[in-house]
Formats: sequence, C-alpha cells, structure tokens
Amino acid sequence: MHSEGHEGQPANEFNRNEVMDKLVALCKRRGFVFPSSEIYGGINSCWDYGPLGIELKNNIKAWWWRSMTWLRDDIEGLDAAILMHPRVWEASGHIAGFSDPMVDCKLCKQRFRADQVVEASCPRKPSVAPGTAGCPGELTEPRLFNLMFQTYLGPVEEEGARIYLRPETAQGIYVNFRNVLLPSRQKIPFGIAQIGKAFRNEISPGNFIFRSREFEQMEMQFFVKPDTAAEWFEYWREARFNWYLGLGIRPQHLRFHQHSSQELAHYARAAYDLEFHYPFGWRELEGVHNRGDFDLTQHQQCSGKDLSYFDEATRERFVPYIIETSAGVDRTLLTCLIDAYDEEPERVVLRLSPQLAPIKAAIFPLVKRDGMPEIAQRLTAMLRPQFKVFYDESGAIGRRYRRQDEIGTPYGITVDSDTLIDQTVTLRERDSMAQERVSIDRLAEKLRELLS
Ligand code: GAP
Repeated sequence: MHSEGHEGQPANEFNRNEVMDKLVALCKRRGFVFPSSEIYGGINSCWDYGPLGIELKNNIKAWWWRSMTWLRDDIEGLDAAILMHPRVWEASGHIAGFSDPMVDCKLCKQRFRADQVVEASCPRKPSVAPGTAGCPGELTEPRLFNLMFQTYLGPVEEEGARIYLRPETAQGIYVNFRNVLLPSRQKIPFGIAQIGKAFRNEISPGNFIFRSREFEQMEMQFFVKPDTAAEWFEYWREARFNWYLGLGIRPQHLRFHQHSSQELAHYARAAYDLEFHYPFGWRELEGVHNRGDFDLTQHQQCSGKDLSYFDEATRERFVPYIIETSAGVDRTLLTCLIDAYDEEPERVVLRLSPQLAPIKAAIFPLVKRDGMPEIAQRLTAMLRPQFKVFYDESGAIGRRYRRQDEIGTPYGITVDSDTLIDQTVTLRERDSMAQERVSIDRLAEKLRELLS
C-alpha cells in the first residue's frame, strides 16, 4: 500500500520543477484548494476545496462514475458507511498489518518513516539525513506505527467501543458483496464501484494534496472466477491507463510500475502502480491489484457468513477472486492540474480537458453599453441550466479572457457590436485562441457538440 517511493527521471519540460509552487499559489488565489482551517493556521495535510476545486472534483468523480457504472452493465454502484464494525479491520488485516515502520530520533524526538529516512533531513542539521554521519541525534530501531485513525462509537470511551475511520473504501464493498449481488441479479464476472472518503494518519504527508490524511478514493472491485483472474487483471490495467488518456493526460507522463514481492501489500497476489510523472518524480496515481480470494475468505471466516458463489452454468462453487482498481480523487485532480498547466508569454493556461473544466463557458459583453450587458446576461440565463457558465463584464476583454484561461475555461463567448446587427456572438477557444462567429440560436447546440 505504501510503495510510492521510487524516483523517476528528471523533468525535462517547461518549468516542471516550479509548477508545484505555481499551482499551489494559483489554487489558493483562484479558489480551487486551500489549507483546512486556515484562519487558525491550518491543520497539517488537510485541504479544503473552494468553488472551482469542487467543480473540478465533481467532474472527475462524475467521469469515473459514468465510465464504471453508466457505460457498462457489469458494474453496480455502492455508497457504504465510513464507520464500520471494528471486526472488519481485523479480518482485512489492517489492525495487524496497516502500519509503516518508523524510527524516532532520541535527541529531537522527531519520527521518520524508516524507508524514507535517507531522504529526510535532521531538524538540527538540515544538510544531513537523520542517523547518518554528522547528525547529532541517534535513531531507535524501526517500530510499527498503525495508520488508522481511531474513535469511539457512542458516548463512552472504552475499549469495546473503539472503531476506526476507514483507511480504504474497498472493505465496504467486500462486506456488501452478497447485498449487491442478490438484488442486482448480476453474475460473475461483475464489479462494484464506490467513491468515498478515506483517512490515513500518514507519517509523511506532503506535496500539496498528493498525500494527505483525509482524502477520497474511487475504487472498483471486480469479482471473477479464479482461473480468469490473470486475464481480468490485464484487462483492467489497460482500461485504467486508457481512462487517464481520456482525461487528456499525456501518455508520456504515465507508466506502470510492477510491485516486487517485497512491495506487495498483504492482500495482493500481483499489483501494478499506474504512475504519473509529477514534478517531484514518478509516483503512484492509481493501484491495480489482483487480491485473489484474500478478502472474501477473510470476511467469511471472521463473520461466519458464506461469501462463496455458485456458478449455475458450470455447477461449481468458489470464493471469487477480486481485481481491484483503486484511484485517488485528490491525486487525480492534482495530476490533471499539473498536466494541464502551461505558460505562454502573455498568459497562464490550464489546458484542462473540457469535460473536466470547472466552468465550461464565460460570457462577456465587449463593453458595458449599447445593450450588450443585457444580451450577455440573457445568454447566461439561457445556457445556465445546461452548463456551468460565468458572466463577467468588468475590465478589458483581453484581461477577462486571461482570467478564464488561467482556470481552464474552454470557451469564451463575447457579445459585441455585430451581435446587435446580426444576432451572432464570438466564440473563442481557449487553447488555440481561435475565434468564430456563431448565431445565438445555435449557441447551446454548438457548445453541447464541443463539450460532448
Ligand atoms: N484499496 C487499495 C488501496 O487503498 P492504495 O495504493 O493504498 O490502495 C489507492 O491507495 C490510491 O488511493 C492511491 O493510488 C492514491 O491515489 C490514493 N491514496 C492513497 N493514500 C493517499 C493519501 N494519503 N492521500 C491522497 N491519496 C491517497
């Protein structure tokens, strides 16, 4: 689960090293993402999504949901509770195994992940890694530190009431395997998809929203006959790679990393990280795992409930194998922002794919007179039920375009003096800045075509 640590080749493109700082500033300035509880100084590694951030996030989730559940008839949706019976986490192996080995410095009392200590710096002497020559402190032997957040169910804080915030959404799917199978009348192979919050008390959160302590996952568990698992694993690996291409991510920024036997999580028989080339190196964007029959067998044993499947066609009974695709919403959002960020001499452009863009079209009167604002406002009201649009009449038109380019709005619609004569408007495309005249009657249809 925590195998994101390997470095990639150096970035060789425009400004990639500086992109993170610029994006963090842009996200704050334009209302995408800002630190949680900021007026109190923020809380480490928790983030709030502002007006544009939530639009982008919702668009990502909707696109995933659509591709998983609407466009296929072999995947069902689910929304399980975040709080689950504590025995779920015994069965899943998270109580025993969801931990990172940590070392503590006896001098400065700082804690570091044992596998990342060489990349860290000693707080007293930042030029050296903790525990290495020149570091004044001394490290303890590695000890396991569980990453699950704990709380208590009900008013009494006693051992029997201890529960956990889920560290992955997947378990909500496994324990509901039969609850979904029976009413949906699915047959194996079939899948269950879920989007929801997950929580991990990460030791080294960081890189903005890349690794935080509260985040969202989009997970799909595909239940298959054991002897077909290898085939389905390959199928989902390819499908998930292509999904990111469909979001507009450049293929040269994506690659797979296969887990070695040392890297495999306790549940996995085989696993690939789909990695993206972040400005801070190649890191996991999504995991595709062959989990074998680990999860259903564990829950069957711990709950005493039969979770096997009877195949009518072959008259066989078996515990299904599971192929999991596990993506992070926040990480996908960061990936899309990084891949879309571009600078030209005159402007910053977020080349977001139109289906993801928070605002689909901005509508401007060229000047604030001659009835142009009224026409532009009428257009805004006409388009609003179908698209997220934005009306802006303040400032020079070039500046208004640039403000939209910076947040990725794919189309600009301008009402000018010709509109008063021939009922057409200028439609400007963000990336090429090409402009065409479109009749007001055809505008909604034209936008629908462009955005579909
Ligand atoms: N159910 C399997 C599972 O949770 P994982 O590799 O630990 O596997 C899957 O996590 C995905 O969830 C990651 O690829 C990443 O996109 C996202 N993710 C995991 N931990 C995260 C964190 N602390 N902050 C943001 N996203 C995270």
